[in-house]
Amino acid sequence: MTKRPTTLIVFGITGDLVKTKLLWALFNLFLQGKLPKKDFLVLGLSRRDWDDNDLRAHLEKIMIEEGFPRKSLWNDFLAIFSYFKADFTCPSSFVDLAKRVRKIDRQASSCTNKLYYLAVSPHFYQTILVGLKENNLVVTCNNSSWTRIALEKPFGQDLPTAKKLDQLLGSLFAENQVYRIDHYLAKENLRNILALRFDNTFLTPIWNKQFIDKVEVRLWEKEKVADGRTAFYDGLGALRDVGQNHLLQFLALLTMDQPQDSSSGAIRKTRAKALKNLAILSPGQVEKKTVRAQYDGYRNQLGVKKNSSTETYFKISTSFSDGNLAGVPLILEAGKAMKKNLVEAKIFFKQPSKCFHQSSSCQNVLVYRVKPKETIFLTLLVKKPGLVDRLSEAKMSFDYRANFNGEKFASDYEKLLLDILIGDQTLFVSTDEVMAQWRFVEPIIKAWRQGKPKITVKNI
Ligand SMILES: NC(=O)c1ccc[n+]([C@@H]2O[C@H](COP(=O)([O-])OP(=O)(O)OC[C@H]3O[C@@H](n4cnc5c(N)ncnc54)[C@H](OP(=O)(O)O)[C@@H]3O)[C@@H](O)[C@H]2O)c1
Repeated sequence: MTKRPTTLIVFGITGDLVKTKLLWALFNLFLQGKLPKKDFLVLGLSRRDWDDNDLRAHLEKIMIEEGFPRKSLWNDFLAIFSYFKADFTCPSSFVDLAKRVRKIDRQASSCTNKLYYLAVSPHFYQTILVGLKENNLVVTCNNSSWTRIALEKPFGQDLPTAKKLDQLLGSLFAENQVYRIDHYLAKENLRNILALRFDNTFLTPIWNKQFIDKVEVRLWEKEKVADGRTAFYDGLGALRDVGQNHLLQFLALLTMDQPQDSSSGAIRKTRAKALKNLAILSPGQVEKKTVRAQYDGYRNQLGVKKNSSTETYFKISTSFSDGNLAGVPLILEAGKAMKKNLVEAKIFFKQPSKCFHQSSSCQNVLVYRVKPKETIFLTLLVKKPGLVDRLSEAKMSFDYRANFNGEKFASDYEKLLLDILIGDQTLFVSTDEVMAQWRFVEPIIKAWRQGKPKITVKNI
């Protein structure tokens, strides 16, 4: 843990992300003594005409509503928060912010570490980045302290906007200062993938095109698009909402080579390589190999355009063009208003042309499930009891939570915040990864915009 005085500057302190994720994460880290002990300050920004006490009262109200524990410690926890009124569209706000930040440093008699956390709509990113730059807030005030920036997804709207944003970020910060968040990477069960794959050595030699027949990754959500999110979602669609990021990161972890070592640099580089190995579809292939649909009733939701052609469901059939899995078919699928919540990957292993026992199928499948329950299944072929040798499928299963009953599972944002504070970038998306993700998605979005293939309205 960083011992130096640290200032966490949260753009968007009154927003939903803070309410549902960041406040919990900070509180849990506080309870575990993982925040810097001395001079740790959270400076929260929004447009409201508030002072420190108003912000603390607002946060306390959330803590009551959400049933935070250990009430006797709340006052100490809330004391780390301070408020700053700002309008991100107004350049003078950044001039004032710079003064406030320097005052914090003076009061701490130190050049505090600075973490700028952009918990705001991405359309503010550019303005905020420029505001920070113009007011000299991106440079560290001495060699022993750091300045870092954390950004939420979506990172860009398409390849050109992502490139532009990345260029701007790259001109202000070194890559080791930038923390692009895809909270899926911090899920306990996703962090477990590398352990499964590279610490169980019997799997390593069979994780290639010689043995793997097909890979499927799906992210089904039972819920429709939430009413408060319709306008945002309608401009985005399922592919950019969860495909370009969560689904591809899940896939990268499942298909990447073994990194040279367990360092952050080696892991990020290898994830990026896996993403670059994805076959890019031509416009003709997009028409033939992708399906996009909209659930019935979507266009009637408030905030959705009546003639919207935004997909709430997609299925993409592609493959890997290079690497250990070159040529292996790959199915990527995600959707809203699906039959059930299901986030999982299936690795189908090749079967021989003729099974040893009489059976039409002797395929092993590894199911890596994230939702509804973190589980891993391996389907095996076993002999049915009885006088005659007949095969039956059996499931070997591992339930992550049941197995570690009583152990605390770290929440995504608790892990992410801690890692930013200690400077570990393993669970953050690198510039190479984000660009590879957009390069894969871009031709699909383009063809879809031209109506190829046509979108269908149906419940999947
Ligand atoms: N919510 C989630 O669960 C979630 C999950 C994953 C990622 N994210 C990402 O996190 C980011 C934030 O999402 P959110 O749901 O928290 O958004 P939100 O609820 O709309 O909050 C936006 C925040 O920005 C502030 N704000 C808006 N315009 C401003 C301006 N001109 N000047 C100063 N402050 C301004 C708002 O403050 P006032 O209106 O009070 O001034 C509010 O604090 C987005 O990038 C989102 O995609 C959110």
